[in-house]
Amino acid sequence: MNFKLLKAGHIKLYKRENSQYWQMKIKIPKQRAVRSSTGSKVFKEAEKIALKNYSSLSKENDNQIKRVKNLYKKIHLVETADLNKKEIEFILDEAKKFISFNRKRNKKNNLLEGRTIFNLFFEDSTRTRTSFEVAAKRLSADLINVAVKDSSINKGETLLDTMTTINSMNPDVLIVRHPEEGISKKISMIVDACVINAGDGSHEHPTQALLDALTIKNRFKNFSKLQIAICGDILHSRVARSNIIILSKLGAKINVIGPNEWLPKNINKLPVNVFADMKKGLKNCDIVMMLRIQKERIVGKIMPNLKTYLKKYGLDYNKLKYAKKNALVMHPGPMNRGIEIDSKLADDITRSLIQEQVAMGVAIRMACLDILIKNRDNVLKH
Ligand code: CP
Repeated sequence: MNFKLLKAGHIKLYKRENSQYWQMKIKIPKQRAVRSSTGSKVFKEAEKIALKNYSSLSKENDNQIKRVKNLYKKIHLVETADLNKKEIEFILDEAKKFISFNRKRNKKNNLLEGRTIFNLFFEDSTRTRTSFEVAAKRLSADLINVAVKDSSINKGETLLDTMTTINSMNPDVLIVRHPEEGISKKISMIVDACVINAGDGSHEHPTQALLDALTIKNRFKNFSKLQIAICGDILHSRVARSNIIILSKLGAKINVIGPNEWLPKNINKLPVNVFADMKKGLKNCDIVMMLRIQKERIVGKIMPNLKTYLKKYGLDYNKLKYAKKNALVMHPGPMNRGIEIDSKLADDITRSLIQEQVAMGVAIRMACLDILIKNRDNVLKH
């Protein structure tokens, strides 16, 4: 075989006996070798192509090494309280890289090839469950979906026993949604895998708040100049809790607006201004984040009259005028159209970021999986 070595042997250019085209094999340290045809029969041309490929692969590798030296070193993501401003910014920056990747025709890389991720959803979900699945598959990980209806919890097994059982299969990440507050943290203490809280009761939903922050970052440069209103059922909303923590750490000023009975008792301890009135609460706001009425968590309590609620707290074009002129609307979904948000406004892409939030969910979840797994690799090395 005719061959030539370049870059201290990291590039091998060779011709197969039955081919006139130069083939290239590029080996970046600690990465799998990449083999392909240069598409050229002329050595000088093939050399140029190989060097260009080598340079771009080296750059990608440098970025990966930089990523390992990351600012978020923990192996779990269970509470936003565990994140400081620099760590949040680091996760948002990492996720930004996946936004353009997710718009490519070929949306697959091998960052997490050979890794095993479990989606453990013991509560309904569309966005979070599927976006974690899409994220894992785009990074080439193997993802297993476990729903409560298929699990031995129905035969009386405890949740922690289920987790210990799955942990024995050597997974890399467990993504957990469960109605019990604090359950992800408990699970993170008994398993070896990374644990991501995908929503625990009314407590926290960290990746939702991170994807909301990423959506906002795409539109506004500086969080410290932003006034954000979070409106509706604050008491039962894990999205509100996580967003209050993440967005205020990034420097945004937060107004919460809702009926008194739907405000948490400790609301005055949170970094927010509280309003019972949309007109006052939306004044000077750049973003209005609406929340779903969490009917499933209001069992045994008095539900407000939905017509009255829409009139007082439901967001429509008229109430949006109380905010800044071009204020944007967000909603984590699923939406109760015609209750907390006017249907037309929700679909108005000049004002609503709702679909963009879903797209950012995939990018954030790709970043979180990648960061946590690399952190765990580093822990296991030492
Ligand atoms: N926002 C959110 O958590 O949606 P799902 O319940 O559909 O996952």
